[in-house]
Amino acid sequence: MAIATHPEVQASEPNAHGYRAFHLGEYEFSRDEYFVYVNWPTGSHVMSADAFLRALQRDVAWNFFYGIVNFDGVVGTVNHYGTVDLFAGRYNDAYRKAELDHVENFETPRIRSTFEAMLADWTNAGFDPFAAPEETGTAFGVKSGDNVGAVTRHRVTAQRMVGCEGDEPVRTDESGFRVNRMFADVPQDQPELHPEPGCESEVRAFNLFAYLSRSDVTWNPSVVSVCGDSLYCPTTEEYILPIIHGNDRVEWFVQLSDEIQWSVEDRDSGAARSRVIMRPGDVAAMPANIRHQGYAPKRSMLLVWENADPELPALLAAGRLPSHPVDF
Ligand code: PHB
Ligand code: FE
Repeated sequence: MAIATHPEVQASEPNAHGYRAFHLGEYEFSRDEYFVYVNWPTGSHVMSADAFLRALQRDVAWNFFYGIVNFDGVVGTVNHYGTVDLFAGRYNDAYRKAELDHVENFETPRIRSTFEAMLADWTNAGFDPFAAPEETGTAFGVKSGDNVGAVTRHRVTAQRMVGCEGDEPVRTDESGFRVNRMFADVPQDQPELHPEPGCESEVRAFNLFAYLSRSDVTWNPSVVSVCGDSLYCPTTEEYILPIIHGNDRVEWFVQLSDEIQWSVEDRDSGAARSRVIMRPGDVAAMPANIRHQGYAPKRSMLLVWENADPELPALLAAGRLPSHPVDF
């Protein structure tokens, strides 16, 4: 399967390892068997190809997400919801002080097309950037085939709730979503519904634990229910969140199973702020001025609760809302 390419995607012919290089503004991205190289006028950077592809996969699938997606401590994107900054060293104290940081702004469709083309070209057959490392093949080596089906998989974004008519379906064996190896003990029963006559099409319920036990991806919040701007975005986590997320609003986390350790840093400088160890039932409000990365030693279930109100980033930036949602 081929991926449609935007006229503005600038790709070179394949190099000696079989991979194309991509140019976007003054940035150049290239890869070889192990590494990805990023060059810009005042500097250069290297990342492991597997970590880079896992981060790129999230940035593309989430359409640049809320706020900042740091691929690591140096490169990443800032979502301005219509345009996107691509930065190097912008949220890194040392790069800032040395004046080596670089930022360029792009219309979202242009950077998205370049990122999609890069993800498609650099992901080999057998490597799934959304899968846990134990459940996929290697990202390394010379170019060999592709995995376009995996890198363009549908992202669940319910309009109202999973299971509602015309909305995202529940997951079953038949639809290809089998219970994950680490969730074999999760009960698969479904709630009984007894709606009043006439209300049958208005009442829906599903077993969220069973739904999550059948997720085939990691670190990929799905919108499973929507109430105004309130989005329930549960996800299953294993190994490391492939991005360091810089918030542009508060996010609530509810740990539904197992354990996740979070490293929390200052959003702008990267200075360490805290470690948060979350066990089942723990609830955390992640402030709007931090960045965080999670570590899950076993596959775990996490409810991410997002407030999608588009006014929030400006209100927070103007200091008209506190960066933390609750005082104790
Ligand atoms: C987050 O940045 O808050 C986040 C992202 C992906 C996840 C979980 C949390 O899977
Ligand atoms: Fe986050």
